[in-house]
Amino acid sequence: MSKSLQAIRGMNDILPEQTPLWRYLEGSVASLLDGYGYRQIRMPIVEFTELFKRSIGEVTDIVEKEMYTFADRNGDSLTLRPEGTAACVRAVLEHGLAGAGQTQKLWYIGPMFRHERPQKGRYRQFHQIGVEVFNLDGPDIDAELIVLTWRLWGLLGIRDAVTLELNSLGTSEARATYREALVEYLAARADQLDEDSRRRLSSNPLRILDSKSPETQALLIDAPKLADYLDDESRVHFEGLKARLDVAGIPYVINPKLVRGLDYYSKTVFEWVTDQLGAQGTVCAGGRYDGLVEQMGGKPTPGVGFAMGIERLVLMVETLGKVPAEIARQIDLYVCAFGEPAELAALSLAERLRDQLPGVRLQVNAGAGSFKSQFKKADKSGALYALILGEDELAQQVVGCKPLRDQGEQQSIAWDALAEHLATCLEQP
Ligand code: HAM
Repeated sequence: MSKSLQAIRGMNDILPEQTPLWRYLEGSVASLLDGYGYRQIRMPIVEFTELFKRSIGEVTDIVEKEMYTFADRNGDSLTLRPEGTAACVRAVLEHGLAGAGQTQKLWYIGPMFRHERPQKGRYRQFHQIGVEVFNLDGPDIDAELIVLTWRLWGLLGIRDAVTLELNSLGTSEARATYREALVEYLAARADQLDEDSRRRLSSNPLRILDSKSPETQALLIDAPKLADYLDDESRVHFEGLKARLDVAGIPYVINPKLVRGLDYYSKTVFEWVTDQLGAQGTVCAGGRYDGLVEQMGGKPTPGVGFAMGIERLVLMVETLGKVPAEIARQIDLYVCAFGEPAELAALSLAERLRDQLPGVRLQVNAGAGSFKSQFKKADKSGALYALILGEDELAQQVVGCKPLRDQGEQQSIAWDALAEHLATCLEQP
């Protein structure tokens, strides 16, 4: 196929065999969030580029190298959203959802776009389910976010395969003091830093902490530690969060090098990581962003949230063999009709059954076909019963009801008694 007619690298079709698992995961998260009192918000996929620059940070990988940015026909610079937090904050501000200290517990789902190097678990169009909470500044809500994800891992059967990593970045003032100390230490040893870290020394020094270079990591062993610079407020907040996780019985690892790739975080940051997915091991990540709303022109409004990558969840559930057998969509009934008069009767009979048996999954054969070919299609559909309408059935106003999954005999059922008969058949396990 010519290149222009293929999907863009890193942007995937999700095929019919895969969608049942996607819908199961999306449905599980949605009903879990409903159960904790979160409400869904839907934002556009495209926003002004400025929004992402201001919130995510000019010198982050996302903004520097990964955004899909283009000029629209008006000459405005627009960007396909690389994440959901910025747009959610924009929407909350624009519609006054968090005015006068009003609490908001929101969630969203949808595609995000980053021009990263595609590999297993890392795509250029990927999907996130994200949660954002506004106007709650205590560790109780940070804990709730973690507790509800823990519950989700339990529901999906993947709890044993994920680890919670936790850190506190402190307030922006504390972080500024720490940044100075770190830069002073590293600047004196700049010649030993890898190239990326040397560049970050002036732009985003905290990101040096999660450098992949062994030499840089060796240098960091004696570097000043963020934990030693935490302000009292952040320390108390962090202790409060840990106490709650202890009570909830959720294990965690403190990772002092966890700084996250987006600039808006303060205090709590966390990641759920796994060793099941190779290099792309972060399944869900987030943290607190108490300064972001103000930075974007609103009143001071604390915020905290996370996002999970649906592709990575799909991979996890598949890798661990936790795909529930019953999620593949199954047809209950397949109607076979032979000849035009029978096809007409089948159409009205099928619609009547849909009225009488709400929720029934019923497929009517389309495209005519011989006895053999229609039966083959009925069988392939996964239906439990084939309903057969030929000339004889039409004359007698009956339907042949043939079990497809067990050895039962075909029965002749009068049209008037069909709904009741099928209701009984379909109820049986
Ligand atoms: P993030 O760490 O950039 O945070 O992304 C969150 C999750 O999205 C990752 O842990 C991963 O599961 C998934 N993800 C990210 N990039 C890709 C990719 N290229 N391919 C597949 N999956 C990916 C955020 O986006 C923040 N907005 C999270 C947040 C919400 N913080 C506070 N509120």
